[in-house]
Amino acid sequence: MISTTQAIKLEDQYGAHNYHPLPVVLSKGEGVYVWDPEGNKYYDFLSAYSAVNQGHCHPRIVNTLKEQAEKLTLVSRAFHSDQLGKYEEFMHRTFGYDKLLPMNTGAEGVETAIKLCRKWSYEKKNLTPEKATIIVAKGNFHGRTTSIISFSNDPVARKNFGPYTPGFVSIPYNDLDALEKALKEKDVAGFMVEPIQGEAGVVVPDEGYLKKASELCEKYDTLFIADEIQTGIARTGKMLCVDHEEVRPDIVILGKALSGGAYPVSAVMADDDIMECIRPGEHGSTYGGNPLACAVAMEALNVVKDEGLAENADRLGKIFREEMNNLVDESELVKLVRGKGLLNAIVINDAEDSETAWNICLKLKENGLLAKPTHGNIIRFAPPLVMSEEQLRDCISIIKDTIKEFEKVEA
Ligand SMILES: Cc1ncc(COP(=O)(O)O)c(C=O)c1O
Repeated sequence: MISTTQAIKLEDQYGAHNYHPLPVVLSKGEGVYVWDPEGNKYYDFLSAYSAVNQGHCHPRIVNTLKEQAEKLTLVSRAFHSDQLGKYEEFMHRTFGYDKLLPMNTGAEGVETAIKLCRKWSYEKKNLTPEKATIIVAKGNFHGRTTSIISFSNDPVARKNFGPYTPGFVSIPYNDLDALEKALKEKDVAGFMVEPIQGEAGVVVPDEGYLKKASELCEKYDTLFIADEIQTGIARTGKMLCVDHEEVRPDIVILGKALSGGAYPVSAVMADDDIMECIRPGEHGSTYGGNPLACAVAMEALNVVKDEGLAENADRLGKIFREEMNNLVDESELVKLVRGKGLLNAIVINDAEDSETAWNICLKLKENGLLAKPTHGNIIRFAPPLVMSEEQLRDCISIIKDTIKEFEKVEA
């Protein structure tokens, strides 16, 4: 078997350097645990950026994947399959939208929502041709395609990738006045927002923000688009994060945990009035809605329901934040904890560009827990939702001990 050192060396030599991973190589996963080739066991506290909500290699999802892979994997949309309609109906029953448009990755889902919103705005709202704008929030992360990075305000994501796609207006997150002002402008088609900004460091908006934002969109006849790729599928303690405020977006984008990490599956959901704006030939993807993806997604969502993962995320999230708040009181190094359900982050008390969060993550790894810093000295904590309370308390001890150990060394 390949060693950790060999695996890292190969990636370094033959792979593009478009990521900066923690120096750990994983070769096996089960539930909340992952192992490296040397047999060291870790708690996974990232869950592949919330794609593995159901835990690594969930046996039910893996079995479905195997069974479907032996029958039929791909037909393209040139033909029908016996899985797609079943899956679309299942999603209708689960989320209550008339229709679904299947894609593969999160970024493709976002691109789909943008196209759908623009098309609707010209055909149903009669906006000036080619002039539709979509409002987005500063600090957003919606993916990596050329159009999506065009409305990012992260210089690293944008620099030297221009020219950028026009048609986006950026306003501060969690600012309803700014939203209403932007909505009053001419030719606005939609407002796209993450219910919690995950990549930005688990930034949770004020209670009521999403509700009010959706009402404002309705008032100005503009589509409210929720990017639930990271926050959806039980991560924040409800099936969708917008459910906390009983908001029903016009368009919902799902990805990541829609397959429980077994396969790339994303989806855009909307009612007929919007979805019927897309006609044959206007959008698609060879793999989008393939039978393997459909079968896996249905099983992945059944696991979420059968195992009560939203309820578990809600309950464990409260324990986690309570314990982290104790740590904030005891430690100079941790400034605050924030989050919802099992999507949380701690903010490190150091300069935004310091290496402290990274170094803490290295120490956490040594102590058997994998987490990754996100922007500005923040560590995101997002374990699989199948975690037990006992396992969570074990993890909390690791985090507390590591921070204290780190403080001693630094003092
Ligand atoms: C909110 C949000 N939208 C979109 C994406 C992009 O998804 P993908 O990496 O599958 O393209 C991500 C990924 O982290 C995300 O968190």
